[in-house]
Amino acid sequence: MAKPDCAVCKGLGWRVFVRDGIDVADRCPCVAETAAGDLEGQAQIPANFAAASFENFRLPQDNPISQKVLADVMLAVSSYTRSYPNVAKPGLLLVGPPGTGKTHLAVAALRILISRGHAGIFFDYQNLLERIRSSFNETLGASNRDTYRNALDSEILVLDDLGAHRVTDWVEDTVTALITHRYNHRKTLIATTNLTDPEITGSLVEKASVTSAGHSYKVSLEERIGERARSRLFEMCRVIRMPNVEDYRIKRMK
Ligand SMILES: Nc1ncnc2c1ncn2[C@@H]1O[C@H](COP(=O)(O)OP(=O)(O)OP(=O)(O)O)[C@@H](O)[C@H]1O
Ligand SMILES: [Mg+2]
Ligand SMILES: [Zn+2]
Repeated sequence: MAKPDCAVCKGLGWRVFVRDGIDVADRCPCVAETAAGDLEGQAQIPANFAAASFENFRLPQDNPISQKVLADVMLAVSSYTRSYPNVAKPGLLLVGPPGTGKTHLAVAALRILISRGHAGIFFDYQNLLERIRSSFNETLGASNRDTYRNALDSEILVLDDLGAHRVTDWVEDTVTALITHRYNHRKTLIATTNLTDPEITGSLVEKASVTSAGHSYKVSLEERIGERARSRLFEMCRVIRMPNVEDYRIKRMK
Protein backbone atom coordinates (compact mmCIF):
# COMPACT_ATOMS: atom_id res chain seq x y z
CA MET A 1 0.00 0.00 0.00
CA ALA A 2 1.25 3.46 -0.92
CA LYS A 3 0.84 6.48 1.38
CA PRO A 4 -2.32 8.22 0.11
CA ASP A 5 -0.76 11.67 0.61
CA CYS A 6 2.73 10.80 -0.69
CA ALA A 7 4.33 13.79 -2.39
CA VAL A 8 6.39 11.59 -4.70
CA CYS A 9 3.80 9.17 -6.09
CA LYS A 10 0.55 10.92 -5.07
CA GLY A 11 -0.62 7.66 -3.55
CA LEU A 12 -0.16 5.58 -6.71
CA GLY A 13 2.76 3.57 -5.34
CA TRP A 14 4.93 4.08 -8.43
CA ARG A 15 7.34 6.82 -9.32
CA VAL A 16 8.06 7.55 -12.91
CA PHE A 17 11.34 8.93 -14.16
CA VAL A 18 13.21 9.18 -17.41
CA ARG A 19 16.18 6.91 -18.09
CA ASP A 20 17.99 7.06 -21.44
CA GLY A 21 15.11 9.06 -22.82
CA ILE A 22 12.48 6.50 -21.85
CA ASP A 23 9.86 6.75 -19.11
CA VAL A 24 10.43 4.04 -16.51
CA ALA A 25 8.63 3.36 -13.27
CA ASP A 26 9.69 1.81 -10.00
CA ARG A 27 8.10 1.19 -6.62
CA CYS A 28 7.86 4.35 -4.54
CA PRO A 29 9.76 4.05 -1.20
CA CYS A 30 6.54 5.00 0.62
CA VAL A 31 5.18 1.50 -0.15
CA ALA A 32 7.90 -0.17 1.91
CA GLU A 33 7.49 2.42 4.65
CA THR A 34 3.79 1.81 5.06
CA ALA A 35 4.35 -1.94 4.97
CA ALA A 36 6.87 -1.60 7.82
CA GLY A 37 4.42 0.70 9.63
CA ASP A 38 1.66 -1.91 9.30
CA LEU A 39 3.99 -4.62 10.57
CA GLU A 40 4.95 -2.45 13.53
CA GLY A 41 1.26 -1.83 14.26
CA GLN A 42 0.56 -5.57 14.23
CA ALA A 43 3.48 -6.36 16.49
CA GLN A 44 1.71 -5.27 19.72
CA ILE A 45 4.86 -3.86 21.24
CA PRO A 46 3.91 -2.45 24.68
CA ALA A 47 3.98 1.35 24.96
CA ASN A 48 6.81 1.22 27.52
CA PHE A 49 9.10 -0.35 24.95
CA ALA A 50 7.78 1.31 21.79
CA ALA A 51 11.04 3.22 21.36
CA ALA A 52 13.47 0.60 22.68
CA SER A 53 16.51 0.44 20.45
CA PHE A 54 20.23 -0.32 20.52
CA GLU A 55 20.91 3.43 20.26
CA ASN A 56 19.10 4.18 23.51
CA PHE A 57 20.53 1.18 25.35
CA ARG A 58 23.07 2.71 27.73
CA LEU A 59 26.23 1.11 28.98
CA PRO A 60 27.24 1.71 32.61
CA GLN A 61 29.92 4.38 32.75
CA ASP A 62 30.95 3.79 36.36
CA ASN A 63 32.08 0.17 36.03
CA PRO A 64 34.40 -0.86 33.17
CA ILE A 65 33.78 -4.57 33.64
CA SER A 66 29.98 -4.27 33.56
CA GLN A 67 30.35 -1.91 30.64
CA LYS A 68 32.36 -4.43 28.67
CA VAL A 69 30.08 -7.39 29.40
CA LEU A 70 26.90 -5.47 28.65
CA ALA A 71 28.44 -4.12 25.44
CA ASP A 72 29.24 -7.70 24.39
CA VAL A 73 25.64 -8.74 25.05
CA MET A 74 24.30 -5.84 23.04
CA LEU A 75 26.70 -6.61 20.18
CA ALA A 76 25.62 -10.26 20.17
CA VAL A 77 21.96 -9.27 19.85
CA SER A 78 22.65 -6.64 17.22
CA SER A 79 24.84 -8.97 15.15
CA TYR A 80 22.07 -11.57 15.30
CA THR A 81 19.62 -9.03 13.85
CA ARG A 82 22.12 -8.03 11.19
CA SER A 83 22.66 -11.64 10.06
CA TYR A 84 19.01 -12.65 10.35
CA PRO A 85 17.64 -14.83 8.75
CA ASN A 86 21.08 -16.35 8.00
CA VAL A 87 21.69 -17.42 11.57
CA ALA A 88 22.73 -20.80 12.93
CA LYS A 89 19.85 -20.95 15.40
CA PRO A 90 16.69 -19.10 14.46
CA GLY A 91 16.10 -17.56 17.88
CA LEU A 92 17.52 -15.95 20.99
CA LEU A 93 17.03 -16.68 24.66
CA LEU A 94 17.95 -13.74 26.89
CA VAL A 95 18.49 -14.93 30.43
CA GLY A 96 19.30 -12.91 33.54
CA PRO A 97 18.26 -10.91 36.57
CA PRO A 98 15.41 -8.36 36.58
CA GLY A 99 15.98 -4.91 35.14
CA THR A 100 19.09 -5.79 33.15
CA GLY A 101 17.52 -4.92 29.80
CA LYS A 102 16.34 -8.27 28.42
CA THR A 103 12.97 -7.01 27.22
CA HIS A 104 14.57 -3.81 25.94
CA LEU A 105 17.04 -5.74 23.77
CA ALA A 106 14.42 -8.26 22.60
CA VAL A 107 12.18 -5.42 21.42
CA ALA A 108 15.10 -3.52 19.87
CA ALA A 109 15.87 -6.64 17.80
CA LEU A 110 12.21 -7.16 16.88
CA ARG A 111 11.83 -3.55 15.74
CA ILE A 112 14.86 -3.79 13.46
CA LEU A 113 13.63 -7.03 11.91
CA ILE A 114 10.19 -5.48 11.38
CA SER A 115 11.73 -2.43 9.71
CA ARG A 116 13.34 -4.87 7.28
CA GLY A 117 9.94 -6.33 6.39
CA HIS A 118 9.80 -9.38 8.68
CA ALA A 119 6.56 -10.01 10.53
CA GLY A 120 6.76 -10.35 14.27
CA ILE A 121 4.61 -10.19 17.35
CA PHE A 122 5.26 -9.46 21.02
CA PHE A 123 3.58 -11.38 23.83
CA ASP A 124 3.93 -11.22 27.51
CA TYR A 125 3.96 -14.86 28.61
CA GLN A 126 1.36 -14.54 31.36
CA ASN A 127 -0.97 -12.52 29.19
CA LEU A 128 -0.64 -14.98 26.33
CA LEU A 129 -1.49 -17.90 28.60
CA GLU A 130 -4.53 -16.00 29.92
CA ARG A 131 -5.73 -15.39 26.41
CA ILE A 132 -5.20 -18.96 25.34
CA ARG A 133 -7.12 -20.07 28.41
CA SER A 134 -10.07 -17.80 27.65
CA SER A 135 -10.10 -18.90 24.01
CA PHE A 136 -11.74 -22.07 25.32
CA ASN A 137 -14.57 -19.92 26.59
CA GLU A 138 -17.24 -19.61 23.89
CA THR A 139 -18.15 -15.95 24.32
CA LEU A 140 -14.62 -14.56 24.62
CA GLY A 141 -13.24 -17.22 22.38
CA ALA A 142 -12.93 -15.99 18.81
CA SER A 143 -10.49 -13.11 19.15
CA ASN A 144 -8.35 -15.04 21.61
CA ARG A 145 -8.19 -17.99 19.25
CA ASP A 146 -6.75 -15.59 16.67
CA THR A 147 -4.25 -14.50 19.29
CA TYR A 148 -3.13 -18.08 19.77
CA ARG A 149 -2.81 -18.64 16.03
CA ASN A 150 -0.67 -15.52 15.74
CA ALA A 151 1.59 -16.73 18.52
CA LEU A 152 1.92 -20.10 16.78
CA ASP A 153 2.43 -18.89 13.26
CA SER A 154 3.95 -15.42 13.23
CA GLU A 155 7.39 -15.47 11.60
CA ILE A 156 8.95 -14.02 14.74
CA LEU A 157 7.56 -14.35 18.25
CA VAL A 158 8.92 -12.39 21.18
CA LEU A 159 7.86 -14.27 24.29
CA ASP A 160 8.59 -12.03 27.23
CA ASP A 161 9.18 -13.36 30.73
CA LEU A 162 8.94 -16.99 29.79
CA GLY A 163 8.04 -19.20 32.73
CA ALA A 164 6.73 -16.39 34.91
CA HIS A 165 3.73 -18.37 36.00
CA ARG A 166 2.94 -21.04 38.49
CA VAL A 167 3.15 -24.47 36.92
CA THR A 168 0.14 -26.54 36.15
CA ASP A 169 -0.13 -29.43 33.72
CA TRP A 170 -2.22 -27.16 31.54
CA VAL A 171 0.49 -24.49 31.38
CA GLU A 172 3.19 -27.04 30.69
CA ASP A 173 1.16 -28.66 27.91
CA THR A 174 0.28 -25.33 26.33
CA VAL A 175 3.83 -24.01 26.35
CA THR A 176 5.14 -27.32 25.03
CA ALA A 177 2.60 -27.24 22.20
CA LEU A 178 3.48 -23.67 21.29
CA ILE A 179 7.24 -24.20 21.36
CA THR A 180 7.01 -27.54 19.57
CA HIS A 181 4.91 -26.05 16.79
CA ARG A 182 7.35 -23.21 16.29
CA TYR A 183 10.31 -25.59 16.54
CA ASN A 184 8.86 -27.96 13.94
CA HIS A 185 8.31 -25.09 11.52
CA ARG A 186 11.65 -23.47 12.30
CA LYS A 187 9.99 -20.24 13.30
CA THR A 188 11.91 -17.60 15.18
CA LEU A 189 11.49 -17.33 18.93
CA ILE A 190 13.07 -14.52 20.89
CA ALA A 191 12.42 -15.23 24.56
CA THR A 192 13.40 -13.55 27.80
CA THR A 193 13.42 -15.10 31.23
CA ASN A 194 14.91 -14.66 34.66
CA LEU A 195 14.70 -18.31 35.54
CA THR A 196 17.91 -20.22 36.05
CA ASP A 197 19.16 -23.23 34.21
CA PRO A 198 22.13 -25.50 34.91
CA GLU A 199 23.06 -25.32 31.23
CA ILE A 200 23.46 -21.56 31.50
CA THR A 201 24.49 -20.78 35.03
CA GLY A 202 25.89 -24.08 36.24
CA SER A 203 22.98 -23.50 38.51
CA LEU A 204 23.37 -25.88 41.41
CA VAL A 205 26.35 -23.99 42.78
CA GLU A 206 24.79 -20.66 42.01
CA LYS A 207 21.49 -21.69 43.56
CA ALA A 208 23.25 -22.61 46.77
CA SER A 209 25.18 -19.37 46.93
CA VAL A 210 22.07 -17.38 46.12
CA THR A 211 20.16 -19.05 48.93
CA SER A 212 22.93 -18.71 51.46
CA ALA A 213 23.14 -15.02 50.61
CA GLY A 214 19.58 -14.79 51.87
CA HIS A 215 17.83 -14.39 48.54
CA SER A 216 14.89 -16.50 47.65
CA TYR A 217 15.40 -19.85 46.02
CA LYS A 218 15.47 -19.51 42.28
CA VAL A 219 13.16 -21.58 40.18
CA SER A 220 14.61 -23.31 37.16
CA LEU A 221 13.38 -23.08 33.62
CA GLU A 222 12.70 -26.79 33.55
CA GLU A 223 10.52 -26.64 36.66
CA ARG A 224 8.39 -23.96 35.04
CA ILE A 225 8.02 -24.99 31.43
CA GLY A 226 8.88 -28.68 31.55
CA GLU A 227 11.68 -30.75 30.14
CA ARG A 228 10.42 -31.02 26.55
CA ALA A 229 9.81 -27.31 25.99
CA ARG A 230 13.17 -26.52 27.59
CA SER A 231 15.02 -28.94 25.37
CA ARG A 232 13.53 -27.49 22.18
CA LEU A 233 14.16 -23.97 23.42
CA PHE A 234 17.88 -24.67 23.72
CA GLU A 235 17.99 -26.21 20.31
CA MET A 236 16.24 -23.33 18.58
CA CYS A 237 17.71 -20.38 20.49
CA ARG A 238 21.16 -18.98 20.98
CA VAL A 239 21.45 -18.30 24.71
CA ILE A 240 22.52 -14.83 25.73
CA ARG A 241 23.31 -14.46 29.39
CA MET A 242 22.82 -11.00 30.87
CA PRO A 243 25.55 -9.86 33.25
CA ASN A 244 24.78 -9.06 36.85
CA VAL A 245 24.52 -5.32 36.34
CA GLU A 246 22.49 -3.01 38.52
CA ASP A 247 18.71 -3.09 37.96
CA TYR A 248 18.15 -0.25 35.50
CA ARG A 249 14.76 0.55 37.01
CA ILE A 250 16.43 1.31 40.35
CA LYS A 251 19.37 3.08 38.74
CA ARG A 252 17.00 5.37 36.84
CA MET A 253 15.30 6.46 40.06
CA LYS A 254 18.56 7.60 41.63
N1 LIG B 1 21.16 -0.45 29.51
C1 LIG B 1 19.98 0.19 29.42
N2 LIG B 1 19.90 1.39 28.80
C2 LIG B 1 18.73 2.05 28.72
N3 LIG B 1 17.57 1.60 29.24
C3 LIG B 1 17.59 0.42 29.87
C4 LIG B 1 18.78 -0.36 29.97
N4 LIG B 1 18.51 -1.50 30.64
C5 LIG B 1 17.20 -1.44 30.93
N5 LIG B 1 16.65 -0.29 30.47
C6 LIG B 1 15.26 0.17 30.67
O1 LIG B 1 14.93 -0.17 32.00
C7 LIG B 1 13.67 -0.78 32.07
C8 LIG B 1 13.83 -2.21 32.55
O2 LIG B 1 14.51 -2.98 31.55
P1 LIG B 1 13.89 -4.32 30.95
O3 LIG B 1 12.43 -4.31 31.15
O4 LIG B 1 14.40 -4.51 29.57
O5 LIG B 1 14.57 -5.36 31.95
P2 LIG B 1 14.36 -6.95 32.02
O6 LIG B 1 15.72 -7.54 32.06
O7 LIG B 1 13.44 -7.37 30.93
O8 LIG B 1 13.67 -7.10 33.46
P3 LIG B 1 12.60 -8.21 33.94
O9 LIG B 1 13.37 -9.49 34.15
O10 LIG B 1 12.12 -7.65 35.24
O11 LIG B 1 11.55 -8.31 32.92
C9 LIG B 1 13.06 -0.65 30.71
O12 LIG B 1 12.33 0.56 30.67
C10 LIG B 1 14.27 -0.55 29.78
O13 LIG B 1 13.97 0.19 28.61
MG1 LIG C 1 11.52 -8.12 30.94
ZN1 LIG D 1 4.81 7.26 -2.61
